[in-house]
Amino acid sequence: MSENNTKSVRKERENWDPAAFVEEQVAALREQIGDGEVLLALSGGVDSSVVAALLIRAVGSQLQCVHVNHGLMRKGESEQVLSVFRDKLGARLDYVDATDRFLDKLAGVADPEQKRRIIGGEFIRVFEEEARKHSDIRFLAQGTIYPDILESGQVKSHHNVGGLPEDLNFELVEPIKYLYKDEVREVGLALGLPEEMVYRQPFPGPGLGVRCLGAITRDRLNALREADAILREEFDKNGLAGKVWQYFIAVPDMKSVGVRDGKRYDAWPAIIRAVNTTDAMTATVEEIPYELLHHITARITSEVEGINRVLYDLTPKPIGTIEWE
Ligand code: XMP
Repeated sequence: MSENNTKSVRKERENWDPAAFVEEQVAALREQIGDGEVLLALSGGVDSSVVAALLIRAVGSQLQCVHVNHGLMRKGESEQVLSVFRDKLGARLDYVDATDRFLDKLAGVADPEQKRRIIGGEFIRVFEEEARKHSDIRFLAQGTIYPDILESGQVKSHHNVGGLPEDLNFELVEPIKYLYKDEVREVGLALGLPEEMVYRQPFPGPGLGVRCLGAITRDRLNALREADAILREEFDKNGLAGKVWQYFIAVPDMKSVGVRDGKRYDAWPAIIRAVNTTDAMTATVEEIPYELLHHITARITSEVEGINRVLYDLTPKPIGTIEWE
């Protein structure tokens, strides 16, 4: 794609109107796909969700979605994908619980980049197996967006399934590839997707895998998922969810001494990270009221088995990256 070409496409729609975009794309998708079938890896992220909703509107049951649960999703996320797309929007959706495959492969692996490679590689393999079950499908839809094209070469290794073997021979369908993220969200709202899905905070492809620091174990991953769910619930309740760009828990692979019910209680710390940024290149730390921090600490340490301390990461980017790995 030449620079000129992408520029002119954006200029053509200076009077941006998400509803008109939906109409245009529905017509274009029907034209491209005809009576063929389309396969889509639906992660539950904003981009793939909007592509799914567009395709459901355009070609309905000609769309086959596959949701791969790699076991590194946040609490309730896979369930939300199923309830929104299968139950409410009536999509054809295969749910693949690949938790054991991913966690078995990751066992004992502490290096962050190797963890990313394993997660990305295994995702492609699971998706390829699903794709081969639908060998009659000719089209592959992807949630590529404009910044992905600008950063070409830096393909999102997890969400983008461009690593599939050539012999599958898919024709790509990329209806939102000229949109910026805020435009994608507007299209999502125009399509009637729930706000919590449209305004979902960015979530790395490798998911909780890069927040369960070092070698992942199931018990520590569960503690992380539960603590993260409490943080999200408290941010929602206290009006911070819409205000803070990204917030999550990281759990390091170390224990400290604690005391519970009069007995020694060795457990992990939960580290809160809550940052604001516009481009993720630099980030500032959100000032969370102390009272709320105390409340979150009390909830996590009393409700989550295996956590005995809560820490707040005060480090801006640079010097600290947003994720811990
Ligand atoms: P860092 O940690 O580099 O993160 O400051 C910047 C933004 O990128 C996200 N991130 C990832 N996203 N795959 C992804 O899809 C990854 O491997 C990955 N690592 C970091 C991070 O959550 C933040 O929004």
